[in-house]
Amino acid sequence: MSAILRAATERDAALLAQLHRECFEEKWDEASLHSVLTHPATSAFIAGDAAANDLQAFIAIQTFADEAEILTLGTAPTARRKGLAKSLLFHAAAHAAEYGARTIFLEVAETNAAAAALYAGAGFAIVGRRKSYYRGEAGQGIDALRLSAALPLAAGRGIVR
Ligand SMILES: CC(C)(COP(=O)(O)OP(=O)(O)OC[C@H]1O[C@@H](n2cnc3c(N)ncnc32)[C@H](O)[C@@H]1OP(=O)(O)O)[C@@H](O)C(=O)NCCC(=O)NCCS
Repeated sequence: MSAILRAATERDAALLAQLHRECFEEKWDEASLHSVLTHPATSAFIAGDAAANDLQAFIAIQTFADEAEILTLGTAPTARRKGLAKSLLFHAAAHAAEYGARTIFLEVAETNAAAAALYAGAGFAIVGRRKSYYRGEAGQGIDALRLSAALPLAAGRGIVR
């Protein structure tokens, strides 16, 4: 695949809403994504297949002083395991580091094995847990793990449990 990765602008709100819908049960609508894309502390990037002109993955990251927070990250189901999320994660982290961030944070459901593997490979460690932060299909509580990594990202360290 010839990959493309570019900054997202407010004109991409509808596309991001569509991709978000494909990736998450708790969807963000176009208006919410427009707010994310126009927030001064937020940067967003999209990636996909350049040859097919098909954008299939996205990330949004917020930077305040020396801390960055990943707000959302997803790859459309048909485009998974092609390295798009990893590329976006490293690109957004490098962008935040350029703007002065020294540490990056995010929250992920403890049942999300794909995301856990992605973040472990990027050197994130567990630094906190929010009990029953998410709801499962049967209404059960699912803990959110708070992960963090020093910037710039150095791949290779696993998640510390
Ligand atoms: C998690 C998610 C973003 C990964 O996107 P992706 O583009 O498929 O990920 P990549 O192809 O960049 O994968 C990078 C690495 O992550 C790990 N990984 C990704 N998906 C995986 C899976 N299903 N099972 C195990 N490891 C996985 C692997 O180590 C992979 O490297 P490899 O393919 O060389 O083995 C995607 O599955 C997704 O959108 N899920 C739904 C939304 C979500 O959970 N977002 C994250 C919330 S914090």
